Amino acid sequence: MRPSLLLHTFVALLVIVLAAPLAPLRAQSPSPKTNMAWWRDARFGLFIHWGLYAVPAGSWNGRTDYGEWIRFSAQIPLKTYDGFVPRFNPTKFDPASWVRMAKAAGMKYIVITSKHHDGFALFDAPGTDFDVMSTPFKRDIMRELSDECHKQGMRICWYYSIMDWHHPDYLPRRTWETDRDTVDARFDRYVAYMKEHLRTLVTKYGDIGILWFDGEWESTWNMTRGADLAKFVRSVAPHIIINNRVDGGRAGMQGFSAGGVSAGDYGTPEQEIPATGLPGVDWETCMTMNDHWGYNDHDTAWKSSKDLLRMLADIASKGGNYLLNIGPRADGTFPPESIERLAAIGAWMKINGEAIHRTTASPFSTLPFGRCTQKTVKGGTRLYFHIFDWPATGQILLPGLTNKVRKASLLANPAHTALPVRATDEGIMVTLPAASPDAINTVLAVDITGAPAIITAPQILASADIFCDTLHVSLAPQPAGVTTRYTLDGTSPVLSSAAATTPVI
Ligand code: GLC
Repeated sequence: MRPSLLLHTFVALLVIVLAAPLAPLRAQSPSPKTNMAWWRDARFGLFIHWGLYAVPAGSWNGRTDYGEWIRFSAQIPLKTYDGFVPRFNPTKFDPASWVRMAKAAGMKYIVITSKHHDGFALFDAPGTDFDVMSTPFKRDIMRELSDECHKQGMRICWYYSIMDWHHPDYLPRRTWETDRDTVDARFDRYVAYMKEHLRTLVTKYGDIGILWFDGEWESTWNMTRGADLAKFVRSVAPHIIINNRVDGGRAGMQGFSAGGVSAGDYGTPEQEIPATGLPGVDWETCMTMNDHWGYNDHDTAWKSSKDLLRMLADIASKGGNYLLNIGPRADGTFPPESIERLAAIGAWMKINGEAIHRTTASPFSTLPFGRCTQKTVKGGTRLYFHIFDWPATGQILLPGLTNKVRKASLLANPAHTALPVRATDEGIMVTLPAASPDAINTVLAVDITGAPAIITAPQILASADIFCDTLHVSLAPQPAGVTTRYTLDGTSPVLSSAAATTPVI
């Protein structure tokens, strides 16, 4: 393969528009003691939003679109909301089946709301009666779920809301809350209360994977308080992973910390997937299966299993984790639609899970037919091509790939029969069976020697996208042994044309 490059003839005052560089997003570097390895290997986890809000199930005074924000959105007075406490009695709660379902779906960790914005704790919380022990259920749900996770080899992690609409010392109050004054409220006392919750959560429930903070955006919270809280948590649980919502630096739903600076270890895009991978940055997209986090019995906007599975592949191909949410019902069961989706994901993961777990981001910037993930194996690399669009020609091109292929086979083929492979000028061509074994995502596993060496179409890199005098223009690096040649007079480059080794002026 001989890539060629034709640079436009440079004429004074000629304006050339080059691709605008992506705004750099730097890693919020994990604290040195943090053990990110299990988290990076996991790639897929279950989020659970559960609390008192499951009782009204999204409905209040004729409106049916509420979720876990119901106290806030419907402006429910505190005393009225407290009325859900005696009604919370999830007698069908079966932690063993929850963990089993998550595990069968290929999820490696569970993050559950130990306390959400409403301030209600699902554990036996020190310093308050506004917890599960005051309900008729009177069972420490976090205890039972964490015990079950430890038993079944699932990582248990706690979501914990900094914002608290119930605690008398939390500030600020909702503007519509006229039934509670703030005269005696002391925010520092609230911080001490949170710390006792967190100490309990990370020391009394066995090994905890993540503290997943949220509700950090109000005026009383900031970078300093976040750093102090993270330091406190690490002082009692040195290896715990903390998300970047522990401090006030998150820049919107994109989920990354402004300037890449955070006391937490990873970024938290919400309901969205970054457009590209972010080398050196750990991130996790959290997403609902329908339109609500907490249970809403009117919400029928379920994402299809196909969409969920393709998003999982997309996220893994960009080097991120997928935290997929379920909002259990007040009786303690998962909604049937969620159970169906977990099962469909599990059926795919049973065959293709190795293309997700312990993989890293795609070495290709884009692929016309789907996504790619990879892992290092003995003697080389295993590339997993996630084929969304099955080629009508029966041939699939792995564009620009120059490595020697040791074997190509479909994970969906139980015998892993080797498929015919040939090297072409454009890359590696693999002959596939006529029909795709999986209409959602068929994974083609390709074992190559060494690290992937991929020749991409030459990319022009320059410090400005407009010039009118001189500009240093260079080319994106290619693998060793590849030379890019160019001309400046509008003709097609040939072997004797200048090689682009130093910047072109
Ligand atoms: C938002 C919401 C919250 C939900 C969270 C999940 O921050 O306030 O209800 O728990 O997203 O990421």
